[in-house]
Amino acid sequence: MERIEYLYELCEALPRSGPGDNECTRRAFNLIPQHVAHPFILDIGCGQGMQTIELAKISNGKIIALDNHQAFLDILMARARNEGLEDNISPQNMSMLDMNFEEESFDIIWSEGALYFMGFTNGLKRCHQLLKEKGCLAVTELVYTNPNPPKAVVDYFEDEYPDIKNIDGNIETIKKAGFNLISNFTLPESAWLNNYYLPIEKELPRLIKKYQGNKVASQVFVEFKNEADFYRKYSKFYGYEFFVMQKNRITSRAT
Ligand SMILES: C[S@@+](CC[C@H](N)C(=O)[O-])C[C@H]1O[C@@H](n2cnc3c(N)ncnc32)[C@H](O)[C@@H]1O
Repeated sequence: MERIEYLYELCEALPRSGPGDNECTRRAFNLIPQHVAHPFILDIGCGQGMQTIELAKISNGKIIALDNHQAFLDILMARARNEGLEDNISPQNMSMLDMNFEEESFDIIWSEGALYFMGFTNGLKRCHQLLKEKGCLAVTELVYTNPNPPKAVVDYFEDEYPDIKNIDGNIETIKKAGFNLISNFTLPESAWLNNYYLPIEKELPRLIKKYQGNKVASQVFVEFKNEADFYRKYSKFYGYEFFVMQKNRITSRAT
């Protein structure tokens, strides 16, 4: 099996595949100015859809839940059926790099911990094209939350996410992409731990046992454990920022 398959096996057992929680999803949604009664929403990189389900509950809208891993979409739709929300969510197995929706078709675009797969700047540009005039985008992005991260943190992100910026740097990128920032807030540590690192640490012993002697699998699982330890040690220097913004031009002039 390839690395990514062990990663998927772990993530499929979690409540979600990245930091976040329903409270933050609701807080971000409530920042969006008054919108149509039944907004058309695109959730990019929805994973197993904790935020998709929450959005379906609070938005009164129709949601396209897009991910390129079918097993996540299956988990999402099983959860949606349990909540009686399956008619509000339409799963789409598609790469965000190949989104072929009509331009200016969405009222709201959502993406928690996923837009960076397109590159943050590029992702903003694509969302700008897909949003209706005055449409809103809510996205979480990994940021430095402290102006002076120690060398260990800088070195770590040079390898893990060289595009990382501070909050102001991201706000500048957002403005250049043709959006007005409505508001932003940093996800609390509990959003990293409760739905993500703690469930990972709960699953790891089972998977380590299952794949004993498998070097590829062990490497993947050790990396997750190290990532959680690194976060606990340095969480005051980086985090996820929720940026909520509104399209301010009809045609994107992002460079
Ligand atoms: C960090 S997870 C976040 C999932 C979910 N939004 C959450 O917060 O729990 C990133 C998601 O992006 C999806 N993904 C990665 N590359 C993708 C691509 N090119 N197109 C669509 N989805 C992609 C992954 O399958 C995964 O579900």
